[in-house]
Amino acid sequence: MPVELPIRLEVLFSAEAIAAKVDELAGQIRQDYGDETVILLGVLKGSFHFLSDLGRRLADTTIVDFVQTSSYGSGKSSTGIVQIRKDLDINIEDQNVLIVEDIVDTGTTLAHLRELLAVRKPRTLKVVALLSKPEARKHKTQVEYVGFEIPNEFVVGYGLDYGERFRNLPYIAILHEG
Ligand code: IMP
Ligand code: MG
Repeated sequence: MPVELPIRLEVLFSAEAIAAKVDELAGQIRQDYGDETVILLGVLKGSFHFLSDLGRRLADTTIVDFVQTSSYGSGKSSTGIVQIRKDLDINIEDQNVLIVEDIVDTGTTLAHLRELLAVRKPRTLKVVALLSKPEARKHKTQVEYVGFEIPNEFVVGYGLDYGERFRNLPYIAILHEG
């Protein structure tokens, strides 16, 4: 039987700190896009709280859609091949697309997603990520709006999970095992 190690959560960003950051990001996005319609493209599942909070601060000029990607590889170390498991429902040609990500880690998912979407000729294609781990980056990829840069630690909460646990914590915490 597998031994379950004790888990300890160390709060990194409180719900209040996250809300303030989402406000700030929404302000930048509103300023950059003005009255233009923007498709907020959430990457499932991790981005759902972030997209919900961000979307309510951008209300009348946004459309919401989702994609889900899957990377095929052995366990946590992906082969670097990212496929679309659930595609968008809408045509993005000549639209402003803003990819909404929970976290950019190695950058593999985002680098591939950007390529896959660019082929569809959106008018603009940008990324907003609540979190970024610059030290973990393996694929260079542009992230136009970053909430917080964090150290190379595994984090959970506010959409981020560990084996589907902890997604609904209102705060973000570093997960310590053992
Ligand atoms: P990347 O392709 O390595 O940049 O990361 C892709 C995905 O891995 C992210 O969108 C997250 O869903 C997940 N991920 C990366 N780091 C963490 C973490 O610290 N906690 C939870 N999920 C993570
Ligand atoms: Mg994600």
